[in-house]
Amino acid sequence: MTELWVEKYRPKRVAEVVGNRESVEAFTKWMKQWELGRLLEKKAVLLYGPAGVGKTSLVLAYGKEHGYDVVEVNASDWRDEARMKAIVGESSLQATLDGSTKKIILVDEVDGIAGREDAGGIAALNRIITEARVPIVLVANNPWDPKLASIREKCLMLEFRRLKKAEMMKRLKEIAEAEGIKVSDAVLEKLVERSEGDLRSAINDFQAITGGRKIVEEHALEALGSRNRVREIFDALRMIFNVKSIRAARAALEGLEVDLDIVYTWILDNTPEQIPDPMDLVDALEALAKADLILARVNKKQEWRLIRYAIPIMTGGVAIARRHKPSGFVKFSFPSRIRLLQSTSAERELRKSIAQKIAAKLHLSTSKALSQMLPYISFMVSNDSGMGEAIARFFEFTESELNYLRGGKAEEAQAHRRAGRRRRKG
Ligand SMILES: Nc1ncnc2c1ncn2[C@@H]1O[C@H](COP(=O)(O)OP(=O)(O)OP(=O)(O)O)[C@@H](O)[C@H]1O
Ligand SMILES: [Mg+2]
Repeated sequence: MTELWVEKYRPKRVAEVVGNRESVEAFTKWMKQWELGRLLEKKAVLLYGPAGVGKTSLVLAYGKEHGYDVVEVNASDWRDEARMKAIVGESSLQATLDGSTKKIILVDEVDGIAGREDAGGIAALNRIITEARVPIVLVANNPWDPKLASIREKCLMLEFRRLKKAEMMKRLKEIAEAEGIKVSDAVLEKLVERSEGDLRSAINDFQAITGGRKIVEEHALEALGSRNRVREIFDALRMIFNVKSIRAARAALEGLEVDLDIVYTWILDNTPEQIPDPMDLVDALEALAKADLILARVNKKQEWRLIRYAIPIMTGGVAIARRHKPSGFVKFSFPSRIRLLQSTSAERELRKSIAQKIAAKLHLSTSKALSQMLPYISFMVSNDSGMGEAIARFFEFTESELNYLRGGKAEEAQAHRRAGRRRRKG
C-alpha cells in the first residue's frame, strides 16, 4: 500500500466518488446496459473535464466493485494504428473468445491524439469503438478538438465539472479522520480554495503540509507558497497582455517572487502568439529589446536602480503595443528555452524513468505523472525523512532517482538562473 494519500484514498466503490452525481449515475446506467447485453446506442462513453475530479477513479471504482479488469491504455502513447490495435484490439478480442473475463478498456488522454499529426490514431480508435465487444471508456480533459468529432459522435458524452467546495471539504475531513490528524476547518478551507476544484491537488497539498505530523496548524500552509509560482506567472502574463495602461501592466509584477530575467523570458516567448498583428508585434518587440538592454546593464554593472525603468517597458510597453487581440483564446505557454535548459539529457532520462514508475502505480499517463505528481512527490521525499523511504520502496525508485527527487528544487532554481544568463549572452 502506498503512502500517498491520493492513492490510499482513491474511491474503492462508486458511492465514494464525490460530486458530479448526474454523470456518475449516467455512467453506472450505461455499464448496466452492457451487462444486460443490450444493443447500445452509444458504444463508448467519453468522460471529460478538468484534472483531479474523479474521472479515472470512477472507472476504477466501478471495475473493482463489479469484478471488471480495467485495462488502461494511454492514447498519447500510441504511435500508430497497428500498435493501437495491438493494445485495445487484442483485449477486446480476448474478451469475446473468453467470455469469463470481464473487461473495461480505459483510454486516457484522448485529447492527446488530436494534437498530433497522425490521423491514423483517430481512425483506429474509431474502428475499435465500432468493433468493440467490451465497454470502452475514453477520458479527456478537453474533448472539443474538431479532429475528435467522429469520436464524439460515437460516445455518450459525460461531463465532469470542478468539484464543489463542500464536496472537497467532506473528503478532506474523512482523510483527516482516517489518519487521526487534528486540523482546523480553516486550514482545510484554504487547501480547498487554492486547488480550484481539483481534489487530487488538494489531497496532495494536505499530505505535503502534514509532513507526517498529527497536528496541522495554520502556518504549515506556508510550505505551499513556492509551488504556486508557475500559476502566479500565468496570472501575471494574463494581466500584462490584457490591460490597457502601463500602470496596470506594471502592477502585474507586484508581489511576484520570481527572478526578473525569468519573467522577461516568459513575456518574450509568449509575445508572438499573443500579438497577432505584425505592426503591434514590432512595437512590442521593440519595447522588449529596450528592456533587455536595461536588464543587461543591471546585471553587468549591478545598477539596480535601473530595474525601475525596465519593468514598465517590458510590461507596459507590451501591453500598449497590443492593439489587436487574437481571434480566439490563445493559451500561455511555458518558455521552451527554460524547459530545455532545465534538463540535461541525463536528467531527462531520469525524469522519464521516474515518470514511468509513477504513471504505472498511480493510473496516470507519464506526462500527467510529470506535471501533476512529480512536484509533490519531490516535495514529500525532501521534507519528511520517514516518508521518503516508504515512497521510494513503493515506486521502486533507484538511489539516483530518489536523489534527483530530493534535490530537484535546487537544480530547478539553478536552471532558471542559467536561463536568464544564457539569454543575455546569446
Ligand atoms: N470525485 C472524487 N471523489 C473522491 N476522490 C477523488 C475524486 N476526484 C479525485 N479524487 C482523488 O484524487 C485522485 C485523482 O483523481 P482521478 O485520477 O480520478 O482524477 P481524474 O479526473 O482522472 O484526473 P485527470 O484528468 O488528471 O486524469 C484520486 O486518487 C482520489 O484520491
Ligand atoms: Mg485520470
